[in-house]
Amino acid sequence: TLPSRVTLVDVGPRDGLQNEKELVATEHKAQLVEMLYLAGLREIEVTSFVSPKWVPQMADNAAVMAAIKRQPGVRYSVLTPNLKGLEAALPTRPDEIVVFAAASEAFSQKNINCSIAESIERFAPVVEAAHATGIKVRGALSCAVGCPYEGDINADQVERVVLLMKGIGVDHLGVADTIGVGTPRKIQAAMERALKHYPLVEVSGHFHDTYGQALANIYACLEMGVHNFDTSVAGLGGCPYAKGATGNVASEDVVFMLNGLGIETGIDIDKLVDAGAFISGVLGRPPVSRVGRALLAK
Ligand code: HMG
Ligand code: MG
Repeated sequence: TLPSRVTLVDVGPRDGLQNEKELVATEHKAQLVEMLYLAGLREIEVTSFVSPKWVPQMADNAAVMAAIKRQPGVRYSVLTPNLKGLEAALPTRPDEIVVFAAASEAFSQKNINCSIAESIERFAPVVEAAHATGIKVRGALSCAVGCPYEGDINADQVERVVLLMKGIGVDHLGVADTIGVGTPRKIQAAMERALKHYPLVEVSGHFHDTYGQALANIYACLEMGVHNFDTSVAGLGGCPYAKGATGNVASEDVVFMLNGLGIETGIDIDKLVDAGAFISGVLGRPPVSRVGRALLAK
């Protein structure tokens, strides 16, 4: 039987916007966060405290955190790749931070300029400092099934990094298909390795939809009982260090599927479509979400 309830983390403000060339105004980012809240999202990935030279779109990280209207019962998370990022993030009071490692050495180098082992060394004090202030740490594991530089990634490579993350006390493990090449059985194999070491409630899927497989992959995860997923309103997104990768699976598409399955999310799909239309308007293009387009055309 499938889970009766699923929690979505909308990563649109962060993953969705990080790759946009034109700078999006801080107030528009804050408004997107607010619209996601109004649509019923209770977990929102707001921004990242990374180098502005590497990701210029996220340079207004602290300003975005200051501009959002903090709502009760909502968890606002931010990415922090190192202690410098954490130190900058802490005064903005994130509810949760995200460290991000990769199952592939080449991607680790391109994305965060260090090896997998070095990244874990860097994250260890970040996790410790976050925990010391009562902040939960999620870990993203990029390239869990495929890498833009190394090609196929196997489940043993995934498990190795899952264990490293667990070893430094990362609370939650997100299995990420950065370039969207995963198919259901392959995703399940990666998920299985995460579930060997993390409880079901602390495992999530983060699937980019480059090859149109993300909904099928989410369904395959539901069959395993996995009930936490990252999605991106309007299907925004991509990673600057994964060329050609498109956005995360659209939140609207996932909610439509879950509604059809009778699985609760607490999300109002019409308000979610409004949020997607808003940010797509800011970016000057139609939403990538098929459901978003269909509902807007009605
Ligand atoms: P580095 O150059 O190796 O870092 O970058 P460094 O420690 O040698 O410092 C170099 C300069 O960066 C210094 O400044 C530091 O102060 C500054 P300078 O002296 O030259 O003026 N610096 C920072 N500035 C602001 N915030 C910081 C920070 N750290 C150092 N936190 C670093 C290492 C990790 C910083 C860099 O590689 C970086 O910022 N990478 C960005 C990676 C990124 O944001 N990628 C996209 C997000 S991950 C993703 O999308 C995948 C995910 O969605 C899951 C999936 O789909 O797979 C999560
Ligand atoms: Mg991503």
